[in-house]
Amino acid sequence: MFNIILFGPPGSGKGTQSEKLIATYGLKHLSTGDLLRSEIAAQTPLGLEAKSFMDKGQLVPDEVVIGMISSALDQNPLAKGFLFDGFPRTEAQSVALDKLLKLKNTEIGVVLALDVSEEELVKRLLNRGITSGRSDDTNETVIRARITEYQQKTTVVANYYAGFDKVVHIKGEGTVDEIFTSLRSEIDQRLS
Ligand code: AP5
Ligand code: MG
Repeated sequence: MFNIILFGPPGSGKGTQSEKLIATYGLKHLSTGDLLRSEIAAQTPLGLEAKSFMDKGQLVPDEVVIGMISSALDQNPLAKGFLFDGFPRTEAQSVALDKLLKLKNTEIGVVLALDVSEEELVKRLLNRGITSGRSDDTNETVIRARITEYQQKTTVVANYYAGFDKVVHIKGEGTVDEIFTSLRSEIDQRLS
């Protein structure tokens, strides 16, 4: 089993690259943002609670997302590996993920961190907001709040995994295919 964390700020291309990576490596894609948006669409109590945080660009409480990931891991016992996108986002989530994977006799193989400048992030997200219908993309104030939340609460995740020598930084600007080639090269080195 080979498990990957695709790490990076809002708009860095995690979702875009995840689609290509799961098609190439046959991994199970687990995006907490996508799981939360499904809960909102289904109007579940969890979705309603999460929406109030997401609309403001704030992180949803740790216990909510950890619970979702825990059930997703249990629901996919035959997965070849998992691609985590947008999770973990705090040190508490990282510690919880490591414990959950240990229970399944596996671990994180590599953390691929996409580096993109703040101006490029804002430009991409405002542009996507024109068509995506995502409430957190429609105005620059919420987009900047998401980036601040990332800087204040999520950058620690990279430090946490750097302590286990698992982090590789990838230039996240350029064409989608150029970035995908860089990601593949790092994964292939570790699989061979
Ligand atoms: P989430 O859904 O995870 O959103 P995000 O991290 O804010 O990031 P995005 O999904 O917006 O960006 P991305 O990196 O996937 O980039 P994408 O490929 O889409 O989280 C949303 C919210 O849910 C959070 O704010 C929080 O409230 C909550 N949440 C989720 N997980 C949580 C957790 N673990 N803990 C607590 N709360 C949590 O690309 C962006 C745009 O750029 C697209 O339009 C794309 O077409 C374009 N693009 C991609 N690559 C390129 C390129 N190379 N060049 C030009 N444009 C590009
Ligand atoms: Mg995404």
